[in-house]
Amino acid sequence: MKGLVPIGGRGTRMRPVTYSVNKHFIPVANKMLVEYPIMTLIKAGIKEIGITYNPGQLEYAKEVLGDGRKWGAKFWYILQPEPKGLANIVEVAEDFLKGSRFVFHLGDNIFVDGIDDLVESFDKGDMEGMVTMVEHEENVRMGVPYFDKKGRLLKYVEKPKKPPHKMAVPGLYFLSDSAFGAFRGRNRLRPSARGEYEIPDLYQWMIDKGLRIEVRKYGGMWLDPGKFGDWLESNQYLLDRLAERKILGKVDKDSRVEGRVEIGKRSRVINSVIRGPVRIGDGVVVKDSFIGPYTSIYHGSKIVGCRVENSVLMEGVELDNMPKVIDNSILGNNTLVKSVSQNGALGMFLGEGSRVEW
Ligand code: DAU
Repeated sequence: MKGLVPIGGRGTRMRPVTYSVNKHFIPVANKMLVEYPIMTLIKAGIKEIGITYNPGQLEYAKEVLGDGRKWGAKFWYILQPEPKGLANIVEVAEDFLKGSRFVFHLGDNIFVDGIDDLVESFDKGDMEGMVTMVEHEENVRMGVPYFDKKGRLLKYVEKPKKPPHKMAVPGLYFLSDSAFGAFRGRNRLRPSARGEYEIPDLYQWMIDKGLRIEVRKYGGMWLDPGKFGDWLESNQYLLDRLAERKILGKVDKDSRVEGRVEIGKRSRVINSVIRGPVRIGDGVVVKDSFIGPYTSIYHGSKIVGCRVENSVLMEGVELDNMPKVIDNSILGNNTLVKSVSQNGALGMFLGEGSRVEW
């Protein structure tokens, strides 16, 4: 079986951070978002993975992810000329996927408990397609499956206004070669009202052709860190589940490190308290500070005289003597927050969409 992971799209819900960084490369619990789908596929035994990208995204993706060798896998980079929808991602990857059953794992979904069982059952089964299903309160913003009286999949609709139940289809799709028929001839798939080639329409095309599609419930934890609040919640959940006690950097004798805290290479903790679960990357300096639970700090950041809790600090963030607690925050690459004024005034240099809540 092969794997397919998209890293395109517009990332509008994560602005302003996504003005300069592709959403898939923003860290969650100090790993880039896209690393989770890639690792999930590899763990399930899928070693050939196609990564689809939109114009302008290839160079950075290649630089960071490479050719897959460091994970014992092989990556193919495939251009999707425009973000025209999830079914379009399958279409542009046809040459790579042809002749193989495959798993399409959205680049911004995390299946925390793995997908090994699902991959095995699709690999061994004779169905032409499979979707997974999770229970979700807000399924109006997701794909929703509809069933007949016997529980067979009747149709599957993208973001319906009035879903009949709380089940939803997350970003994990299993397909066979027969899906490519949907991109040919007079009956080929057409864009939806919002101008995208929708993944439910691809499955619908297969259902209408009489091809067998099965639905399986995903029993594990599923995360979809699409927007600000979800990102912090996912960061919190993953730190809780994954952070270990692993200290590679230096902690001086005036500091205290409590619980499950990871501190990367060349990092230094001076006269500070760090209370886990926390992940700190490489080359980070923490001085005269308190770093509280559910905080992840990416490489090259510097925190002096601050109290930080439940936050995501991206690469090279600098926090210097803030008089207030920094809580529930996401700070983009190379952000500087510094207290300089004597009279309590704020000096700011913020880009479009930035938020300061005091
Ligand atoms: O998260 C689960 C939901 O994901 C499903 O329930 C929906 O059925 C599915 O359509 C999708 O909805 P979203 O609105 O969250 O999709 P989004 O546009 O955010 O794109 C999902 C992923 O695909 C993300 O990794 C970006 C990438 N993408 C998206 C489009 C439309 C591309 O690479 N190219 C594209 O053309």
